[in-house]
Amino acid sequence: MSVLAEIHKRVETLRKEINYHNYRYYVLDDPEITDAGYDRLLRELELLEGEHPELITPDSPTQRVGAEPLKEFAEVQHEVPMLSLANAFSDSEVDDFDRRGRERLSVSSQEYSVEPKLDGLAISLLYKDGVLTRAATRGDGTKGEDVTLNVRTIDAIPLRLLGNDYPRELEVRGEVIITKAGFEALNQQQRKNDAKLFANPRNAAAGSLRQLDPRITATRPLSFYCYGVGKVDGDSLPPRHSEIMRQLKNWGLPVNPESRVVNGVKGCLEYYREMQGKRDSLPYDIDGIVYKVDRLDQQKKLGFVARAPRWALAHKFPAQEEMTTLLDIDVQVGRTGALTPVARLEPVHVGGVMVSNATLHNQDEIDRLDARIGDTVIVRRAGDVIPQVVGVVISRRQGRPRRYKLPGTCPVCASPTVRLSGEAVTYCTGGLYCAAQRKQAVKHFASRRAMDIEGLGDKLVEQLVDEQLVNDIADLYQLSVAQLAGLDRMAEKSASNLVKALDKSRTTTLARFLYALGIHDVGETTAQTLARHFGSLDAIRKVDEATLMTVSDVGPVVAKSIVEFFKQTHNQEVIGKLIKEINWPEVEVKSAAELPLQGKSFVLTGTLSSMTRDEAKAELQALGAKVTGSVSKKTDYVVVGENPGSKADKAEKLGVEILDETALQKLLKQG
Ligand code: IVH
Repeated sequence: MSVLAEIHKRVETLRKEINYHNYRYYVLDDPEITDAGYDRLLRELELLEGEHPELITPDSPTQRVGAEPLKEFAEVQHEVPMLSLANAFSDSEVDDFDRRGRERLSVSSQEYSVEPKLDGLAISLLYKDGVLTRAATRGDGTKGEDVTLNVRTIDAIPLRLLGNDYPRELEVRGEVIITKAGFEALNQQQRKNDAKLFANPRNAAAGSLRQLDPRITATRPLSFYCYGVGKVDGDSLPPRHSEIMRQLKNWGLPVNPESRVVNGVKGCLEYYREMQGKRDSLPYDIDGIVYKVDRLDQQKKLGFVARAPRWALAHKFPAQEEMTTLLDIDVQVGRTGALTPVARLEPVHVGGVMVSNATLHNQDEIDRLDARIGDTVIVRRAGDVIPQVVGVVISRRQGRPRRYKLPGTCPVCASPTVRLSGEAVTYCTGGLYCAAQRKQAVKHFASRRAMDIEGLGDKLVEQLVDEQLVNDIADLYQLSVAQLAGLDRMAEKSASNLVKALDKSRTTTLARFLYALGIHDVGETTAQTLARHFGSLDAIRKVDEATLMTVSDVGPVVAKSIVEFFKQTHNQEVIGKLIKEINWPEVEVKSAAELPLQGKSFVLTGTLSSMTRDEAKAELQALGAKVTGSVSKKTDYVVVGENPGSKADKAEKLGVEILDETALQKLLKQG
């Protein structure tokens, strides 16, 4: 064989293999090779075709993405019209459908092919001699648009059928969809590019398929399931819908794996309920079930009414999207002080429940939707997800309602609100003063890593705040045994224990105190860094943003949060009260250069015998070390105690130095 003939043969083999692996992946959902293995085959083919362009054929798996955008889509005439389906919304309508069909056919029972009704976009695929030659949208059912170049980019759609027993001309019909995960990823991308978000997977699929530039379509996570055939020329197909589907599957076309054949209305309704239960866990959106008379001879006898077949029915699930009126926008202040706009809606049934509130997330989302009070909005509730406003029906807008802006002051405590640049969330600056945040602030203050007040649990904090015994964290230190003993589920003994615990917490460290204040973006590590760097609360209270940013690990966001926090009069008052109650040993300020472990990164794993991991962490940090949770190439030391986890193995694998407890102690002593 000549060299060229051999290359030609290799090219053909590669294409066959790639098509086969596509089939394993997209049709059988059972891949035989890894993604990397697949990519290797594709790359080899690309390479050979690059060297021998004369070998390229349009159905080669390398030829999915065309190069040039279209000016417009050409019109396609559907030889066999693409029909729609009659809808049923109740069991009795399904019953009627079945009875009418059986009467017409004079049969006593009926077999139905049942399958999910996918919420995507109908498409017609024309295969001539097994090669995809044209793809068209449904359009008005008789005329659609030629979207061949776009459809070629969908990996789940074969450019060439497998085997060789297919009809000369075969028109396959099905639904182009975007999976829920694909939809989320796409919107994430759109958000990053400041592009328009898609309201739901269906719109995303439609928008992606109607791109004039197939290179854009190629980036969209489109998928496909077929559900029928149109024109067939040449060999005839099997006599049942379910058998045709099996045949299409063998030719390499993805068929919904949930499809099956059932008996009578009972079988249909059982399947409907089963799928309703599965709906939220399916990877794609479905809006109902399609029942189809399985036997084609019976389908033919039943024929059509208007534009829908008498042999098929769409049994819809409760809609996940409805229109309603946006009555008002309220603002909720969350535990962190984040302001969340909430849409108050004219109550409406969505996805089986009554919805009267929906989240609007943040100001950006309101702006993106251009939602204004009084607008007609589209509300979506999918599964357990919180209802969302996904769109505004601008055409229904009356008059010129004003744009909505989140308030400049907190609706709970009237402190100014801020939105830091680069952040979507608007926060209340009220901090410790804001009632909405008070409970959370007290819980945080009392928590183990903060002031470590034993016995001050969440339920108790809520009671204390509700009873107005604690209006700010400083009030904690004024609580008496008598007051506490009067509360629910508190006896004299537990009340006195709590007062003791409160007293114990009066002696703490500057780092703990700073962390306990609950300043935005100031976690334990930052609090420790600040304490070490500035040495006193006074120094930190007076510092400006520029100086803060010279501290390692303090960026502009953290710096701004800190300055903003200490600027608030309410916070100053609370701190003023607290420092009369609490004390800590003075902190010796060391410059970074003096710290022996400055810049070294540690990971701790396993149980230490002489101290807890938290204590070890604090001591290491005091010496300038960074203590992180996972081992990487950048880790300098992994400290291994008793029964270490996988982190020790990883350290070994990466060649990171391992220290036992003795070595750690030596290191700490040196410091
Ligand atoms: S069969 C003559 N099966 O629903 C029957 N349609 O409302 C033609 N659809 O335009 C359709 N999933 O886009 C059929 N499993 C399924 C379907 C399905 C979704 C869509 C299809 C059609 C529309 C009709």
